[in-house]
Amino acid sequence: MGKTMATSSRDWNQIYAIYGVDQWQTIVFLLLHALFFTALSIFYLSYFESICSFFELLFSGGSARFAAGFTGCVTAISAFCLFFAAANIFYSSLPLHYEMALRMVNAVSDWSTVKHALDLGCGRGILLNAVATQLKKEGSSGRVVGLDRSKRTTLATLRTAKMEGVGEYVTCREGDVRRLPFGDNYFDVVVSGVFVHTVGKEHGARTAEAAAERIRVVGELVRVLKPGGTGVVWDLLHVPEYVRRLQELKMEDIRVSEGVTAFMVSSHIVSFTKPRHHFVGSGEVRLDWRC
Ligand SMILES: C[S@@+](CC[C@H](N)C(=O)[O-])C[C@H]1O[C@@H](n2cnc3c(N)ncnc32)[C@H](O)[C@@H]1O
Repeated sequence: MGKTMATSSRDWNQIYAIYGVDQWQTIVFLLLHALFFTALSIFYLSYFESICSFFELLFSGGSARFAAGFTGCVTAISAFCLFFAAANIFYSSLPLHYEMALRMVNAVSDWSTVKHALDLGCGRGILLNAVATQLKKEGSSGRVVGLDRSKRTTLATLRTAKMEGVGEYVTCREGDVRRLPFGDNYFDVVVSGVFVHTVGKEHGARTAEAAAERIRVVGELVRVLKPGGTGVVWDLLHVPEYVRRLQELKMEDIRVSEGVTAFMVSSHIVSFTKPRHHFVGSGEVRLDWRC
């Protein structure tokens, strides 16, 4: 079976121009704090003796020097951690997101037979457009639908698809992922990137209500997938919960990727196949997913 791999050989200026930087407010917030702590660390280094004299007003002799040194070290470590967090979020927001979208596309063994694909919570469309690009590369008559609850987002996503030159392969639909507006067994491929963990957050991420909603989304994903179809989900949190649900639903060939640090947490890609026949397998989970 021939397989065209999705690869990245893109001009990053063009990619940034199309998608922009997500969560830039968080990045600016972290950078400002990192700069503040850097300035404080430099101040500590430059005026260490004066700072020790100040600490001597509060502590006696040796403990004043220790307290000054300790707070200086904490300040420098905080600056480093804040720079690291800002850099990781900046990297995760686009370069890593783009790379993970390609890995998700490559988790599907054969795109040539794909007629209908779905991206749940398509957002800016990085993953959606990666799927559309793969369909275009295959010369496929297949199409991908991006589902998002926000009309503004779906309109913006259609614009990114046009800019990527895959507009004709993409349609967007407004809807709620907890009640997918599609019939059973319709899509050959269903994907979702850094999204499912956000469902039900309004109840509090650790509540039973939120967990029930996430489980419902996994159920909906399986419902709309054709027998023999492939599901691929990349998420930052709750991956073991999805795997348990997929095992309960008797999905086959469940694979979990190694952890990839994204947005400061260890994220995983889960891929699986919906059984062609109602064959109940062992529900084995393999941890050897090729990335
Ligand atoms: C973090 S973005 C996803 C990014 C996207 N998957 C990508 O690869 O670029 C999450 C998106 O999910 C949408 N969303 C949130 N809750 C939703 C729901 N219940 N149903 C459908 N879409 C939802 C939001 O509007 C947002 O655009």
